[in-house]
Amino acid sequence: MTLLHEYQNGTAYRREGLPAKDPHWQQGVGPFKSYAEGGARVLALQRPSTWPKADLWETLGARRSHRRFAEGPLAQQDLMLLLWAAQGITQPGPWPFRTAPSAGALYPVETYVCAARVEGIRPGVYHWELPEGRLALVAGRNDVSAAARSACLGQDMVSQAAATFVWSAVWARSGQKYGDRALRYVYLDAGHLAENLHLAATALGLGACMIGAFLDDAMNDLVGVDGDDEAVVYAACVGRPK
Ligand SMILES: Cc1cc2nc3c(=O)[nH]c(=O)nc-3n(C[C@H](O)[C@H](O)[C@H](O)COP(=O)(O)O)c2cc1C
Repeated sequence: MTLLHEYQNGTAYRREGLPAKDPHWQQGVGPFKSYAEGGARVLALQRPSTWPKADLWETLGARRSHRRFAEGPLAQQDLMLLLWAAQGITQPGPWPFRTAPSAGALYPVETYVCAARVEGIRPGVYHWELPEGRLALVAGRNDVSAAARSACLGQDMVSQAAATFVWSAVWARSGQKYGDRALRYVYLDAGHLAENLHLAATALGLGACMIGAFLDDAMNDLVGVDGDDEAVVYAACVGRPK
């Protein structure tokens, strides 16, 4: 039996009983992480006064992976729209709901932006902070493009992209309810929000490509997570298509 089969069988829900919960999972983990509270510099992103119009069916039909990007920058407004599409809050409240569904509304996925060429934004790694909807600077670095490319197994599209979005999982958020089965849900959650971003990019006339091929340690280092309690699960690069 491979590890995959062992995991799938070991976390299966069956009529005769659900898998026992592992008491090691930390309880009471909330859905937000904040660098701003730790003193990081913050950049407010303005919501548009009018939202761009797009036809859903045309957008679905036009979505394609783009791997060659023009040199121009990404508008700050477009960055905001992409982030909102992936993880915007659509129902505020004590436990806000978002644009993409999440198992148990636990929202285990964090979004980081490796901004290489975004109007008005110094190159570097940023964290998308919710519920405020702002960017917090994790690390200013002029070589962010090269570092992201290297972490993504040298994929050239990453160095051409204006921005690379990196999604990490805070395992305990989902694990506190679902135990080891959380792994299944975390990757599904990431897929939902990434597709939202891909469709938004298409609707805005931008190009995007999902990234599953990356060096885990290098990617975790890039966004400054430990790879244990929080680890990178997915990424996507975006730019003006060439
Ligand atoms: C989970 C996942 C991981 C992917 N990883 C990469 C990647 O690392 N590099 C890449 O060039 N494309 C990657 N892709 C894009 C696929 O190659 C692409 O979606 C597929 O060829 C279908 O083309 P389309 O997106 O234009 O429909 C990935 C797609 C998914 C869903």
